[in-house]
Amino acid sequence: MIYACTGEETIVFVEGEEPLETIVETDLTLKQKAKFKIGAAIKTSLLESEPEYVNALVENYNQITAEFEMKMEVLWGSPDYNFEPADYITDFAETNNMDVHGHSLVWYRSFPAWFTLHQENDTIAYESKIKEFITTVGNRYKGKVRSWDVVNEVISDSGGLRDEEFINAVFNDPIAFYGRCFQYAKDVDPDALLFYNDYGIANLPEKRASIKSFIERLLDEGYPIDGIGCQFHYSASNSLESIKTAFDDIASLGLLMHISELDMKMNTSQSDNFILTSATAKRQGDIYEFIVNMYEDLPENQKYAITTWGVTDKYTWLTDFWHPKEYPLLLDSNYNKKLSYLGFLNSLR
Ligand code: GLA
Repeated sequence: MIYACTGEETIVFVEGEEPLETIVETDLTLKQKAKFKIGAAIKTSLLESEPEYVNALVENYNQITAEFEMKMEVLWGSPDYNFEPADYITDFAETNNMDVHGHSLVWYRSFPAWFTLHQENDTIAYESKIKEFITTVGNRYKGKVRSWDVVNEVISDSGGLRDEEFINAVFNDPIAFYGRCFQYAKDVDPDALLFYNDYGIANLPEKRASIKSFIERLLDEGYPIDGIGCQFHYSASNSLESIKTAFDDIASLGLLMHISELDMKMNTSQSDNFILTSATAKRQGDIYEFIVNMYEDLPENQKYAITTWGVTDKYTWLTDFWHPKEYPLLLDSNYNKKLSYLGFLNSLR
């Protein structure tokens, strides 16, 4: 192993490999080249505290999703609403000419304790609270949030509806309830685009089939759903062919397609000694190139946005939830463009 130090950068070469820069410079940025929106999940605290983060975001992206601030646990963490962090985001977007994708109105993991506890088994009270939330939030951000994940992750990994979710356990017909959630969101802001969002389409075939039938039922019954968010928290060990098969299968429903939470784990064995070698960085670039190419193959009217789940390897949920040595995004910890950035850019048409 050879380390070449250039100022603060350490570029790692593996013996026997062609030396290869792991960081790149490009003439165009992603948002300049793309014909659809390029989104990033962001944190308000970083918008406030780190100018390099803001610069990188504004230079490369034209859509933002709050990683936390538009979840119910923040907006309605106590019976009083707290709009401050979400307002900061919509103001930031307006100032910087970006769209906001709202995430997410109904998600079992973001219901605050006060909210869940008081509902017991009373579905009518529960639904009226959810409706109040959708209506209040939708109304406040009308014209400021272009699209919403109305319902997030209600299908279980083995197919069918999730058992652990209160809604699925107590409503006689939970799917109709979710349909009404879409309708509430539509009623309050008819111009917002409404999405169902979930993970695991490529590696969980039963789940994918259930997502499809869930959406088909909503469509058949005339509920207002415009698109599907496929999260894409994948790793280098996922087969690219199965990702494509799964994505095309979901796209066959004909709705807008959002790759909504894209990141790519490279430290697949969760090794403490992992380093992003030039070979691994190149492989990551090839994977991003494949995914964006796959997205570009969609019919034009189904392209909505690709959102990366973070802006820089410096701040990613995966260093907590997967392994501290993980580098899943397009910009490195010093905000340099990686080969993954180049792969993404190369596939844009
Ligand atoms: C899911 C949610 C996201 C986020 C990630 C982990 O994908 O949709 O909001 O919580 O998990 O960061």
